[in-house]
Amino acid sequence: MPAWKSLVSVLALASTAVSCAHHGDNEVVPEHEREELLKKWDQEWSFSGIASFAHLRTVKCLVEPSENYDIAVIGAPFDTAVSYRPGARFGPRAIRAASARQMSGTSYNTRAGINPYNSWAKITDCGDIPITPFDNGLAERQMYEAFLELGSRKIVNAAPSTKSKNKKDVSIGARHPKLVTLGGDHSVALPALRALYKIYQKPITVLHFDAHLDTWNPVRYSAYWQSEQTQFNHGSFFHKASREGLICNSTSAHAGLRTRLTGVDDGDYTTPGPEQGFIRIHADDIDELGPMGVVEKIMSRIGLDPEQPVYLSVDIDVLDPSTAPGTGTPEPGGWTTREFIRILRGLEKLNLVGADIVEVSPAYDNKGETTALAAAQVVFEIITSMVKSGVDAQLGGWYGRREDGSGGVGVVEEAPATAGKDEL
Ligand SMILES: *[C@@H]1O[C@H](CO)[C@@H](O)[C@H](O)[C@H]1NC(C)=O
Repeated sequence: MPAWKSLVSVLALASTAVSCAHHGDNEVVPEHEREELLKKWDQEWSFSGIASFAHLRTVKCLVEPSENYDIAVIGAPFDTAVSYRPGARFGPRAIRAASARQMSGTSYNTRAGINPYNSWAKITDCGDIPITPFDNGLAERQMYEAFLELGSRKIVNAAPSTKSKNKKDVSIGARHPKLVTLGGDHSVALPALRALYKIYQKPITVLHFDAHLDTWNPVRYSAYWQSEQTQFNHGSFFHKASREGLICNSTSAHAGLRTRLTGVDDGDYTTPGPEQGFIRIHADDIDELGPMGVVEKIMSRIGLDPEQPVYLSVDIDVLDPSTAPGTGTPEPGGWTTREFIRILRGLEKLNLVGADIVEVSPAYDNKGETTALAAAQVVFEIITSMVKSGVDAQLGGWYGRREDGSGGVGVVEEAPATAGKDEL
């Protein structure tokens, strides 16, 4: 057979093979082919892929009622309740894009001794809540209903730390999935707290990192022009939440404060009412206390009561505008990204039931995405702490490392490595 003839027959064979390998819409790809495909193509580079948070599997959870998870990242693209710069409706997109270097295979957190994306917890990016930009009353309701629905789903993997315990000994934070919200302006915290109150049936401890108090009485903006809807804004939502009884007044804290107050004295600090439900740690306090002193102050206020749920609310303007310019109401004189991350790391034992990272307004960010990068890192640290709190082992990590080498970087002995794999 001449060479060209054998080539033709090889090609013919090849094309037969190709047509045989073609599967109809309903045919299942055989196992060995699937394996081959995965080996060949199931890789994402940090810079590739459609941007979900940390390349997590993304599902529109609100339209998939059977979708369950242990931790959900959810976007709240809403910014029509701001008093100064708008634009935080683009925050979720920017934070997701800035999280691109968080890959499940390369996200071992040395301080914590754990890779949160490759541990016991199933973590899903649930996409965004579709929130109307035309009617804030409706937006409030949409967010509340979405948070309530997503926070009421069943957990998938009981945290390993809860397995040896009686049901009643399991900390309240381990009974429901945890939501991490990417804002959006800060008012998204109000519907989030309403949903948490409904789920946990008790006032929630709020740990609030911000340059501002956000407990402003709505008359601050205009005493004359008032309506139901003027109360729902990104500076008064904690006032409203407190009045609704959603916030625990004896355990909550503001940290990173440095805003100007109203009037001619410190009346905003001393007025009886919602203003008194929080202790106040100022941005400057870090000079005397150091980051770990700030941590101690917060821990001694909040404590580790396993029955008391804690909500962590992070306004990116807690950082100095030099590190986070892309935000709604910048205030010079804030903490650096490093200082803030150090503080968050010191708070890993808190009984977190949910968190938000808000007020990232990419239009005011720089080309290096400084603000969005900081926000993505903050989310990484929060998720790390949520996952670590469920591990049934002493993980040393960087903070626990001793000089003699013992108690150092921890190994998760019993945690199944399945969850992380699914996320790819
Ligand atoms: C917290 O304080 C505010 C203002 O005094 C009050 O309206 C609210 O009911 C208190 N919350 C709880 C849970 O007791």
